[in-house]
Amino acid sequence: MTSFSICVLPGDGIGPEVTDCARRVLDALALAGGPSFTYQVQPAGHGTFLADGYAMPESSLAAAKAADAVLLGAMDVAQIPPGGGDPLGDMRKGLEVGASIRPSRAIAGVASPSADIDCVVVREVTEGLYSRIEYMVDDNAACAVRVITREASTKTARLAFETATARQRRLNPAHKKGRVTAVHKIGVLKLTDGLFLEAARTVAADYPDIEFETRNIDACAMEMIREPAHFDVILATNAFGDILSDIGAGLAAGLGLAASGCIGDRWAYFEPVHGTAPDITGKGVANPCATVLSAAMMLRHLGQPDSADAIEGAVEDVLATGVIRTGDLGGNATSAQMTDAIIAALEARL
Ligand code: IPM
Ligand code: MN
Repeated sequence: MTSFSICVLPGDGIGPEVTDCARRVLDALALAGGPSFTYQVQPAGHGTFLADGYAMPESSLAAAKAADAVLLGAMDVAQIPPGGGDPLGDMRKGLEVGASIRPSRAIAGVASPSADIDCVVVREVTEGLYSRIEYMVDDNAACAVRVITREASTKTARLAFETATARQRRLNPAHKKGRVTAVHKIGVLKLTDGLFLEAARTVAADYPDIEFETRNIDACAMEMIREPAHFDVILATNAFGDILSDIGAGLAAGLGLAASGCIGDRWAYFEPVHGTAPDITGKGVANPCATVLSAAMMLRHLGQPDSADAIEGAVEDVLATGVIRTGDLGGNATSAQMTDAIIAALEARL
């Protein structure tokens, strides 16, 4: 029987609630004859900073490296003062993950501004405008350094083209040909985006079956809203991808359903795109779907496509039926009720 060790970093706010729901779904999968899981729950986040003075303990990072995969809840990074630790940055750098994959797709039964959207943002996550290199010039001026390297750009581009190739096979019948759209602001960021685009073009040459195009970030944001069906895989530097993936989530079914995976050569971790939601923390009403779908992405990454399909299908079944929904989707179900419904749908599929 296949067994995986999962390092869980529940984090802050609704993080522990939604990772608990995802674990219940994974355990139901195991009971129904799927792979089984052991969990190492590790501290990280603002709560850990308050308790220990540092938000990302070395031991948590070591446990993440030792596990087969990592599932993360949410981190209240805005509350952590400079020097108090950078849990997401430390995870992304420490696990050498490089790029994040963030799919956005309309789901039957969930109201969304665009029924046509079916795209994936592949976003660099360790450098760019979020390099974490900032300094005060004097009392009245501050700088952030936008770092772009050929190595990180090339890795992210390769992940984007691999994602487009996999989608061409699996999903997306609307696109006859897979397409990667690289996003930039070359008119202003001549050196940094010049290097990024050069790396993307070099990788594109290895994928003649995938169409390659470029878009300015501002035009891309507008076109995603006006013509979402045009987009297949969007390749972006860190900050541009951060914004575009939230636009994608907004056009699809909202942050309650937005899953993501940060992928590297050796390690990977999976997390919902949403934040800690302090307004509903502790009430047991958070939508667990984004974390459950992140767990499905994790299973796909672990070489368990049937289990991933079953969980994604179970979430879709529950949403299509529409009886059990959390508040963000217009219902009044609790997280536990939504999780029970997903588990029942999962059992029906297995
Ligand atoms: C995300 C988040 C993080 C990021 C923040 C919290 C640092 O917005 O994962 O999208 O942009 O890296
Ligand atoms: Mn974000």
